[in-house]
Amino acid sequence: MLLLITDVHCQYHLIDEQVAYAEQLCGQAVAQVVVLGDFGLFAHTLYDFFRRAGRRFARPVSFLEGNHEEFDAFADLVGEYRDCFTWLPRASVHTLDGHRVLALGGAAYMDAMTTPRGCEIRAEDIAACLALPAGSVDVVLSHDCPQGIGMTNAPGFGHFGPPGFAGGREIAAHLQPRLWIFGHHHRWFDRTHGATRYLGLPESWKGFALLGHHGDLRVIDHFLDSPSTFWSRLTTWCQRLLGRESS
Ligand SMILES: [Fe+2]
Repeated sequence: MLLLITDVHCQYHLIDEQVAYAEQLCGQAVAQVVVLGDFGLFAHTLYDFFRRAGRRFARPVSFLEGNHEEFDAFADLVGEYRDCFTWLPRASVHTLDGHRVLALGGAAYMDAMTTPRGCEIRAEDIAACLALPAGSVDVVLSHDCPQGIGMTNAPGFGHFGPPGFAGGREIAAHLQPRLWIFGHHHRWFDRTHGATRYLGLPESWKGFALLGHHGDLRVIDHFLDSPSTFWSRLTTWCQRLLGRESS
């Protein structure tokens, strides 16, 4: 089975904690984990976890990018840590545990702070998805959601306009995926339009989804300790970035 989780925000240890819970709950091994963005691809947190502490994930982990990654060093970091996890580029198709999966990382533009350069879903990303053969994927995994599926803004985010990215519904109409699973909005969402069931996941420390080998989908509420260190890590990264820029 596939374990789908999102918005890890540098708290990499949460992945193995949710994997252990899933395997105990289901009595079977997780074949692979996919992180649906905001993995936390930041040089100093990756170094601390994988190199200094020597940690490795218990199961193979791949990820697509969200909006909270270190985009200035993205390609270098993906290459440097390829022994630890795998990046699924936008508009790429993969067979994962028997499922034909389209990856579509990135997010719709919000503001310069929240959606840094490099994260925004571009028209050419949508075009690349639309160029795939009709009906060629079973599942779409994205960070943001398509516009117009009924997702609403979280309280306090109304000024960003309608949530989601343009062109997603066209992708769904063309590819007819059975499932479209996304993160970014930090809450559960479950709605079906036409042939496609759209499932939004909350942050990694609140739950995840399991996609069985035969296509069965389980939604798992499972709270872990909240990542109290996230904001302190983000602050540290910003301070280091500013220090680099001023040196
Ligand atoms: Fe996000």
